[in-house]
Amino acid sequence: MSDATAKKEERRKFQAIRGTRDLLPPETALWNRVEQTANEVFATFGYGEIRLPIFESTELFARAVGGETDIVSKEMYTFPNPMRFAEFYTKLLHSVKTGEGANEMGTLADLIPESEMISLRPEATASVCRAYIEHNMQQLPQPVKLYYMGPMFRSERPQKGRYRQFYQIGAEILGGTDAPAIDAEVIEMLMTFFDKVGLQGATLYINSIGHNGPDCRRAYIGALYNALLKIKDQLGPDSQRRIDTNPLRVLDSKLESEQPIIATLPHIADHLCDECKTHYAEVKRQLQVRGVLYQENWRLVRGLDYYMRTTFEITAPGLGSQNAVCGGGRYDGLVELLGGPPTKGIGFAIGEDRLILSLQESRKGQAQQGRDIYIAWMGEKAYATAIRAAKDLRKAGFSVELPPVEQKFGKALGQADKLGAKYALILGDNEVSEGLWTLKTLSDGTQQKFTESDLLEFLRQQEKVSS
Ligand code: HAM
Repeated sequence: MSDATAKKEERRKFQAIRGTRDLLPPETALWNRVEQTANEVFATFGYGEIRLPIFESTELFARAVGGETDIVSKEMYTFPNPMRFAEFYTKLLHSVKTGEGANEMGTLADLIPESEMISLRPEATASVCRAYIEHNMQQLPQPVKLYYMGPMFRSERPQKGRYRQFYQIGAEILGGTDAPAIDAEVIEMLMTFFDKVGLQGATLYINSIGHNGPDCRRAYIGALYNALLKIKDQLGPDSQRRIDTNPLRVLDSKLESEQPIIATLPHIADHLCDECKTHYAEVKRQLQVRGVLYQENWRLVRGLDYYMRTTFEITAPGLGSQNAVCGGGRYDGLVELLGGPPTKGIGFAIGEDRLILSLQESRKGQAQQGRDIYIAWMGEKAYATAIRAAKDLRKAGFSVELPPVEQKFGKALGQADKLGAKYALILGDNEVSEGLWTLKTLSDGTQQKFTESDLLEFLRQQEKVSS
């Protein structure tokens, strides 16, 4: 191998870890637009932003999401608190060297108890509830409406729309009542947001999974379990295993061959208690009042343990098999389960990676690529004017490219084209001494002359017309 090839190999050695990726411009402009829209829409519904830690105690997720769920049992990035690990390691070294204390040392698990294990967050609802308790938010006017955005981590098999580091935009309402209007308003906000970002073809699916009482979901799980035992032989190994671990999850199966069999299973709607039935009927009525279109899906049980009553999911086109762009539901017992007071709760999380993919596929969300204005300048005097013009135009909100070295006008205009600029502002010594600046519209090649203040006014008007 030549030296040059070896160097090239060396440089190629570092790549983003499987399941993680870099987000680059111009795509990041679209990410920013989506996040900005979330900030604006959620604020109009009275939500405030919460920023949460990226890692938390493993126990928090085990308790909230459920130790038996795929997320907690297989997909979390978990590690011992490094401080405790170092302590253990030092003791171990000492004991190996001196033979002292070998008998009392115990194991790593003794020294680093479960409570010292840390996990990268696989979702954020658990953290929001932890924060609600930790900061005594039950003393604030209820309900407390919070939203968040940021990376989550799940060690799933990577594929299109499924990553190990992915991004969510989520919202939670905690405290106050469990009035069905709250469920409906959360969903209304979500659909308003999707509409605002230009997501096309989104479908909202809703269901109620009742509450965990003997006259409600538990009765249903019993009926489902019995029905599943009868058809066990016709199911694949994954579903067979789930009959014992979590029969509800059999309903999530995407296996083609199982679909006709699952269609014959009992429906939860026939087993809801009266209160849950009334709650669900009212959520649907409230959605209709708000003009939110939905489809009922009796198989929508969701993969996290904290849900009760209303569950929902939104799918979008262009995503292949990973087509859920958002999931959510009600979780009234969760704050209490984490050591807080009895508290109502409901929320959702949007998979931002998938939302962006779907926007890109529909071409609606094409990130704006080019600059607004490329300043083609020639001459020392013109350069000083160009610097001032760039400053003023940027202040007015336009994106401006100001080349750092002088170029012939022909070359500058070619460069402006390559960057996808809308206009080229041509500033030569003539323009500067006349006080009339030339603006070239690059899409049709037309040119107009403006005074400095007229130019700004013209660009503002054009901006209004195109938005
Ligand atoms: P979830 O259904 O697990 O719910 O995730 C919500 C969304 O995150 C999914 O619909 C999907 O769009 C996205 N997502 C999940 N895993 C991945 C992945 N590996 N790669 C890319 N996107 C992914 C929750 O996380 C709940 N905390 C939602 C919630 C909030 N429920 C109540 N409040």
